[in-house]
Amino acid sequence: MNSLQMWQDAAQQVFWYHPPTQILDDANPPFYRWFADGVTNACYNALDLQVTQGRGEQTALIYDSPVTNSKARFTYSQLLEQVSLFAGALAQRGVGKGDRVIIYMPMVPEAAVAMLACARLGAVHSVVFGGFASAELAVRIDDARPVAVVCASCGIEPGRIVAYKPLVDEAIALAAHKPGHCIVLNRPQAPVADALERDVDWHEAIRDARPVECVPVEANHPLYILYTSGTTGQPKGVVRDTGGSIVALRWSLSNIYDVRAPDVFWAASDVGWVVGHSYIVYGPLFAGCTSLMYEGKPVGTPDPGAFWRILQEYRVRVMFAAPTAFRAIRKEDPQGRLLQQYDVSQLRALFVAGERCDPATLHWAGDLLGVPVIDHWWQTETGWPVCSNCLGIEQLPIVPGSPARAVPGYQVCVVDESGRELAPGEIGALVIRNPLPPGTFTGLWNASERYRTAYFERYPGFYETGDAGYIDDNGYVYVMSRTDDVINVAGHRLSTGAMEEVLADDADVAECAVIGVQDALKGQLPLGLLVLNSGAQASAEEVVQRVIGAVRTRIGPVAAFRMCTVVKRLPKTRSGKILRATMRSIANGEPWSMPATIDDPAILDEITSTLQAMGLAITAD
Ligand code: COA
Ligand code: AMP
Repeated sequence: MNSLQMWQDAAQQVFWYHPPTQILDDANPPFYRWFADGVTNACYNALDLQVTQGRGEQTALIYDSPVTNSKARFTYSQLLEQVSLFAGALAQRGVGKGDRVIIYMPMVPEAAVAMLACARLGAVHSVVFGGFASAELAVRIDDARPVAVVCASCGIEPGRIVAYKPLVDEAIALAAHKPGHCIVLNRPQAPVADALERDVDWHEAIRDARPVECVPVEANHPLYILYTSGTTGQPKGVVRDTGGSIVALRWSLSNIYDVRAPDVFWAASDVGWVVGHSYIVYGPLFAGCTSLMYEGKPVGTPDPGAFWRILQEYRVRVMFAAPTAFRAIRKEDPQGRLLQQYDVSQLRALFVAGERCDPATLHWAGDLLGVPVIDHWWQTETGWPVCSNCLGIEQLPIVPGSPARAVPGYQVCVVDESGRELAPGEIGALVIRNPLPPGTFTGLWNASERYRTAYFERYPGFYETGDAGYIDDNGYVYVMSRTDDVINVAGHRLSTGAMEEVLADDADVAECAVIGVQDALKGQLPLGLLVLNSGAQASAEEVVQRVIGAVRTRIGPVAAFRMCTVVKRLPKTRSGKILRATMRSIANGEPWSMPATIDDPAILDEITSTLQAMGLAITAD
């Protein structure tokens, strides 16, 4: 079936106030517009439609929080009521169609309520992951210029309570833009003591609000902005539109994940990441499924059997998590003994993404659970999987190390530096032929030119994924590494460029590099290499500790930046470019060759010795 026909059919499965008459507007590449003249609403599709179709009493959302010892269930009708009321509270504060709202919350149901309430009003939410620090939040506030911020008073990490509200206040103080309102969900673990003039308590806001109906919006109206790491400290505000998201996510639930109403679907991620947007909040609800919000970790809350408990307790049909979570469980319970205490027989499949899934983890989880473990590849930009074994269409043989083939709607190719398409087996840049399907990003907030140049300029006619790899004779895609400065730490996408900006700001640092080194648990960890100014005031150890602290306060604990050392010099090309890729290969004990353009080859010996002293740069032989 041709792609347009496929999407036309898929569009008929969703609710439109006015169905689109045009499926794809390709008049202005790369700014493609799907379903351009359609009018719809994401919240309507997620909630009102489901209630209208008779799912009012079905559980829409399950909340399970081992860190607070609490559980809750919300039927579609209950969720609709809460969302309508909270939308009313936002509307009372002047939030309307097109206005932005920043949401800075942990994994609590109110985060989903706030997102859906924005969608109800046609307001554009931007959820910021709680592991990011104030300065990162401030950058997003200045870029999105929200009318209101919705936050919780705190998040709960194992062993510590993270007070979110002071972080929000600090971010607003740092930002040039000052949102007029801050709606605070006070949690008993750390309620806010001193409310500011712009603050209102979540429950008070709802008490005084009237429920509101959905605002019809054009298909291309932005549903949300989600900031993600690029090569610099300025994050990219990925914009997802409304109509495309509804159509693609709904299609993906049945065709890729093979779940349908009223199946229970669990994505063990966070609402702050794209997985949380697509597969905790919107996708499962568009499909009439029951979704699960888990406020806990794979281990330590309380033990490595936590995931198995959830699978049993809620009869989860399909689960989705990052491979790092299973590496964490395996590390603590290598035999998977705790699984014996649980009945997970209703589980049909485990999907993994967010980072490359190493075959050992894939085999371990598959053998233990006795279900297919499906590696699938996608990105914040695409919003839903690019490559996957589509269980709802046909299960292909599983090849560990590959996320299988391109999903219908995507044409994945491998090209060399000149943009020439490569033969099967040849390694190059992974690109996707334009147009990208519905539900993928339609732009970058406030940065149309960056959208064009960062993603569509280098390989004309293609979207540049930023990943490198190859495709085999059977069309299986292998994603091997990033081609840019993005690293993946415990399934979290981070920019080494952003970390370098923090390091370079230290008064005693002359120059620096941050590279990703392999880690058995988290996949990758950042490693900082510093060259100090000749007249540095502080000792090397003091500077190292200072920059580690600075990354934590300016980017956030999620960066997991703990490895840092001082070197005499950094290897460079004759034109002065730091040879990060070579250092990365050395640090990871991978084969490397002396770059022809290197200025002084002896520096690499110094770097190798330093890295070896840190327990890195160990080659297999
Ligand atoms: N709010 C505040 N702080 C947070 C946070 C949040 N929402 N999430 C993480 N952090 C903090 C953690 O407390 C930790 O701080 P610390 O340095 O003081 O210990 C730091 O950020 C790193 O957290 P995390 O990446 O969770 O590492 P961890 O060592 O605590 O746990 C794993 C390791 C593998 C168990 C965990 O990373 C994990 O479950 N990863 C899966 C990620 C995922 O689902 N990704 C989504 C893609 S599908
Ligand atoms: P994010 O935007 O945070 O979802 O991160 C996207 C990046 O994570 C991709 O560009 C890849 O580098 C990596 N990634 C995600 N899924 C996979 C996968 N299944 N295999 C290999 N890499 C992956």
